[in-house]
Amino acid sequence: MGQKPIVILAIESSCDDTSAAVLKSDAILSNVTAGQEVHKSYGGVVPELASRAHQQHIIPVVDKALKDAKVAPSDLDAVAFTRGPGLMGSLVVGTSFAKSFALALGIPLLDVNHMHGHILAHFINEGQEMPRFPFVCLTVSGGHTQLVLVRDHLNLEVIGTTIDDAAGEAFDKTAKLLGLPYPGGPLIDRYAQEGDPLRFAFSKPQIDGYDFSFSGLKTAVLYFLQKAEKDDPNFREANRNDICASVQHTILEILFKKLVKAAKDHQITDIAIAGGVSANSGLRKRLQEEGAKRGWRVFIPKFEYCTDNAAMIAIAGKYLYEKGLFADQSISAMARLPFNRSL
Ligand code: KG4
Ligand code: ZN
Repeated sequence: MGQKPIVILAIESSCDDTSAAVLKSDAILSNVTAGQEVHKSYGGVVPELASRAHQQHIIPVVDKALKDAKVAPSDLDAVAFTRGPGLMGSLVVGTSFAKSFALALGIPLLDVNHMHGHILAHFINEGQEMPRFPFVCLTVSGGHTQLVLVRDHLNLEVIGTTIDDAAGEAFDKTAKLLGLPYPGGPLIDRYAQEGDPLRFAFSKPQIDGYDFSFSGLKTAVLYFLQKAEKDDPNFREANRNDICASVQHTILEILFKKLVKAAKDHQITDIAIAGGVSANSGLRKRLQEEGAKRGWRVFIPKFEYCTDNAAMIAIAGKYLYEKGLFADQSISAMARLPFNRSL
């Protein structure tokens, strides 16, 4: 008993990526993700289209994940899935699939919180150093911005969050103002690398504690562009790199002010980042610099584990499995799943 390594199939479908992964022990055997091009022309994710695309992708994606991993359904010990938070119509597809698959195979179900998945991606074993508890994780994605005190794999506490837009939204909404397609975050990143981050100054919010605010930035950028274009109709195009670099710089300033405060107040020197925005090259570089300056050990996920993926759901599922925290067939998806698991 207990000798055979655990094999878990995980499903992620919270937003616009359909992903399936197979984990064996704490290593990933396969991680297959199908994105959805269909939203590009709409400037954002259209929930109904996302749900429909998940229904089309889920079976081929799971099939490929099992084949890539050279694992048969009968080898699986459990099925993990993202219960929430996310878009209801998207979550329902992954949840229903996971429930049926587990029922058909007679194996346990593991319900994972998407935000825990982003953080626990740091424990996917690829021979790298892993954070030691307690550590602080800055989770930045399209839907969330959270400062999390991680005491254990299953003991995580949100100490700061956004009071309005998420950091990813700040990237995507300012990108939209610049006429860039959705999602604009990666494009801002690319143009920012060629620009001057100090060329334009945008005001930063004054928020107490560890909370963040980003909605003011998008308004500031809008007014700034309108004013500048009165004098020069080509302002956006002519200054795109510097605008992107300055916007990105402002977002990073807002994030790091609170991250540094949280680390100092809690006397924590193991610092991690997670979520889609942690793919941002400026954020990754700044974390390295702050780490060197402040004596932090910093943890930056591999690119493929930053944006939404099922590998992170698989590793999070493993910790539930080890504690026997299984879901039953009556479970349903929850768009606004609370961060803390009710035991
Ligand atoms: O975690 P994620 O894949 O999905 C959510 O759960 O939201 O995060 C997606 C977000 C989008 O806002 C996207 O623009 C942003 O992550 N993102 C980036 C970069 N890559 C993805 N933002 C800035 N720079 C990047 N390189
Ligand atoms: Zn995410």
